[in-house]
Amino acid sequence: MSKQTPIRRTTVPQIAARKGNEPIVSLTSYHAHTAAIVDKYADFILVGDSLGMVMHGMESTVGVPLDLMIMHGKAVVRGTKRALIVVDMPFGTYEESPAVAFRNAAKIMKETGCGAVKLEGGERMAETVRFLTQRGVPVMAHIGLTPQSSNIMGGFKTQGRDEDDWPVHEADAKAISEAGAFAIVLEGMVEPLAARITKQINIPTIGIGASADCDGQILVLEDMLGLNKWTPKFVKVYGDLGPAIERAVKEYASEVKDRSFPSEDEVYR
Ligand code: KIV
Repeated sequence: MSKQTPIRRTTVPQIAARKGNEPIVSLTSYHAHTAAIVDKYADFILVGDSLGMVMHGMESTVGVPLDLMIMHGKAVVRGTKRALIVVDMPFGTYEESPAVAFRNAAKIMKETGCGAVKLEGGERMAETVRFLTQRGVPVMAHIGLTPQSSNIMGGFKTQGRDEDDWPVHEADAKAISEAGAFAIVLEGMVEPLAARITKQINIPTIGIGASADCDGQILVLEDMLGLNKWTPKFVKVYGDLGPAIERAVKEYASEVKDRSFPSEDEVYR
């Protein structure tokens, strides 16, 4: 009988140890099938609450329910073997108190089998990050452009354009890192600020519309595949899935309409 080496998932300490080392590769994924492809190349996969906008047509991430995150989290865990799976805590499930945050984070971890959760916010969430990490919940934080606060920010706006605001973002990153988060997403933040924060804190920074100097990068999979009609300006589009799907659907529709659609004996030779 041959002895097989089990494939082990990337762990939270392994991601944390990449600070200043080999860049961390990550993408979002919401499904078992796309996650299985991403799993071959990504160190961690984020089941982001962006799924509310990308897959479910919502105008912002504010309306995303916990059960939806759990359902997609389960699919991504099922579809993968290698990557660390991080699931977003949706708006309204962690801000009220550390105890509420723990209850919902534990539910996400138990029901999905993911290895960590992500929440948005800096200094104001530091107490919650400490509470969770001390109780066995690994936390990735998210500062800069925080989509769950888009109603306060007045939309999705790049942060740090005014240098006078930099100390606030730097204090957010420092508070989160000291509270025990294992990594922090810097979203929609001017390049020099993201680069400064990356130098100032001792946990990996994961950039999205931030700086190439971050310790890792993340993109929303559907954005980089060219599947969305609109993508943020900073996204490099690596695929053309939107037009490719349209070409295929158009060809199928015309075959059905002009009766050239293949019969069973032609397809299943
Ligand atoms: O929800 C999400 O996809 C995210 C990434 C953009 C970092 O938070």
